[in-house]
Amino acid sequence: MKKLFISFIAGISIAASATTPVYLDDSKPIEDRVEDALSRMTLREKINIIHAQSKFSAPGVPRLGIPELWCTDGPMGVRPEVLWDEWDQARWTNDSCTAFPSLTALAATWNPEMAELYGKSIGAEARFRNKSVLLGPGINIYRTPLNGRNFEYMGEDPYLTSQMVVPYVQGVQSNGVAACVKHFALNNNEINRHTSNPIVDDRTLYEIYLPGYKAAAQEGEAWSFMGGYNLFRGEHASYNPILMNQILKGEWGWDGAVISDWGAVHDTRTAVTGGLDMEFGSWTNGLTNGQSNAYDNYFLANPYYNGIMDGTYSTDELDDKVRRVLRLTFRTSMNRNKPYGAMGSDEHVAACREIGGEGVVLLQNRNNLLPLNLDKIKKIAVIGENAIKMMTVGGGSSSLKARYEITPLDGLRKRVGDDAEITYARGYVGDPSGEYNGVVTGQDLNDSRSPEELQAEALKAAAEADVVLFFGGLNKSNHQDCEDTDRETMDLPYGQNELIKALAAVNPNIAVINISGTGVSMPWTDNVASILQAWYLGNETGNTLADILTGDVNPSGKLPYTYYASLDQVGAHKLGEYPGHPSIDALGNEVMDIPYNEGVFVGYRFIDKNKLKPTFPFGHGLSYTDFTYGTATIDKTEGTADDTFTVTIPVTNTGSREGKETVQLYISDLKASVDRPVKELKGFKKVSLKPGETATVSFEIGRDALSFFDADKHEWVCEPGKFEALVGASSADIRSKINFKIK
Ligand code: GLC
Repeated sequence: MKKLFISFIAGISIAASATTPVYLDDSKPIEDRVEDALSRMTLREKINIIHAQSKFSAPGVPRLGIPELWCTDGPMGVRPEVLWDEWDQARWTNDSCTAFPSLTALAATWNPEMAELYGKSIGAEARFRNKSVLLGPGINIYRTPLNGRNFEYMGEDPYLTSQMVVPYVQGVQSNGVAACVKHFALNNNEINRHTSNPIVDDRTLYEIYLPGYKAAAQEGEAWSFMGGYNLFRGEHASYNPILMNQILKGEWGWDGAVISDWGAVHDTRTAVTGGLDMEFGSWTNGLTNGQSNAYDNYFLANPYYNGIMDGTYSTDELDDKVRRVLRLTFRTSMNRNKPYGAMGSDEHVAACREIGGEGVVLLQNRNNLLPLNLDKIKKIAVIGENAIKMMTVGGGSSSLKARYEITPLDGLRKRVGDDAEITYARGYVGDPSGEYNGVVTGQDLNDSRSPEELQAEALKAAAEADVVLFFGGLNKSNHQDCEDTDRETMDLPYGQNELIKALAAVNPNIAVINISGTGVSMPWTDNVASILQAWYLGNETGNTLADILTGDVNPSGKLPYTYYASLDQVGAHKLGEYPGHPSIDALGNEVMDIPYNEGVFVGYRFIDKNKLKPTFPFGHGLSYTDFTYGTATIDKTEGTADDTFTVTIPVTNTGSREGKETVQLYISDLKASVDRPVKELKGFKKVSLKPGETATVSFEIGRDALSFFDADKHEWVCEPGKFEALVGASSADIRSKINFKIK
């Protein structure tokens, strides 16, 4: 009997495996599964799978058991569930997330290990929420300090961005969740973001605006990209034949799926031929968004179906789109081997605090005011609205419903305890609001006192204290750090500059903790003792800043972008155009042409070329300890472009406490046939050193680090001649140089 039973079971399992379709069999190669699924789909099913069915989901193929594809924002935390076809949150009670630091803070760590930790952690939260695509990271280059979304991106330098985006993407995708690298490409401002038409030459495009995306596609192997709203050379980025077909899928050989930005698709033909694979967020023609059959009227829905039926379109492009969506599905929702994720875990909380702690940048520290010496200091005056205002709500699509948020004042009070008395004075009223898409902070920041009363209270508190900590900067409201609006000036809002100077006049022992995601002008650096660039740090803001201010954590961040003294120091404003000028495109649409006349001279590249002195340079960041650099050496002073040169330099911690230093390598091409930047970042290493410890840091220099993009040849070129390797603590603090020659 037993034998009979076993053979009966075996029979069923053989029969079952014989009939299990390839596309459902995890043991089969993905490409086989793709082809099998494609062969089983009807035309209508192929059309349905490439466009949204709701605000953030696409339908899959119910008949074949191919799951729906669920996307979620954002780059710094998993967005709360929204209503089927609304931006407003659905008021679920299980979707409060860990709010991680802004991506500019991550970039400021200059530590790829932090990027991997970040990606793994946020990807685990998206996985737990059963999402297949996380709509991030954003990596648009910081072209102007006025861009409203700089806080969501990784700074001004393509090399730093490319080194930090790869581990983030790999971390996210280790959870079986796709990263969606955005906004490809040239979405460098929020003003007129649907009609901006950057005019960029190929060399600038390939040297400055593409490297981060290329690294994400080729090394990060990102499973999806999001096209930007803007145009490029007359066509919308989300279905731009040059960006999507020629470069991303052609030159880079990328096999992922291109997802439109929400509402970035405007017609069927170019969406079909321009390399777009999934349409989301369209405000359909004739129907207001939200109508039940709006999704059937998407540009890649009925209009495309009808166009195929009447012979306007072949099914070639459709099959390519469907293959890419199926591949995305097999890598995510139909990958049985993925982990289960977690949400609000101790590990994620620790990651939030660790990443933030490595990202805060000590810009200035006169008289070693910091870290606070709690043995001596008896009274601390905390001043400024940003000491009490929650920042995880607002700012656009990256807004979150955080599990909690510890404000700077609360974090400091908890850490300092009875060691010192802490008084608080608001100083000014900026933005008392605290709501976005139905998520509320719950804070009541309304204050009816007059500016004079508020200032008087602050000055009194400052005069009576041993140390003043001013928490200022920006917030997530319009024209601050906020999607869909740009800043109108680099200045701090709400009269902060005047207040800081007034406070410094009554108490020179003042530290300014600037909470912002983009650079601001700081006309008071000579008035104050210390300055921290503190970013948006998520749930653990208050704990992270208390760690730094009390010295529990030694700051080790470095600026991922230049702190300009004025817009005159910014290539985009001095040479380029920003925000551009009205024009009519080839189709007769009104656009805003933005000639990027500054070319490759973005950020420190413009500063160096014009010998300018910014408030704080790219790559700058101090420590509570000191580091000395020895003399750089090189393994050979001459070689060919195919050789690898090794530059080595000893770095010593000559201070009294452990610290981390990011040693930066820049390369100068001393004689080139094109106008190259004075130097360009081509390497960095973050080393942790105990007092007295020396690390020998070495960099491998290959062809990539020496080449420029020759637009005429359409390839990277390394010209023979003299080069210089410059090693330093920032772009303006070079400690050692060494020459070498390419034969
Ligand atoms: C927004 C943003 C994009 C976001 C998407 C969905 O407009 O540009 O970054 O992921 O729409 O919210």
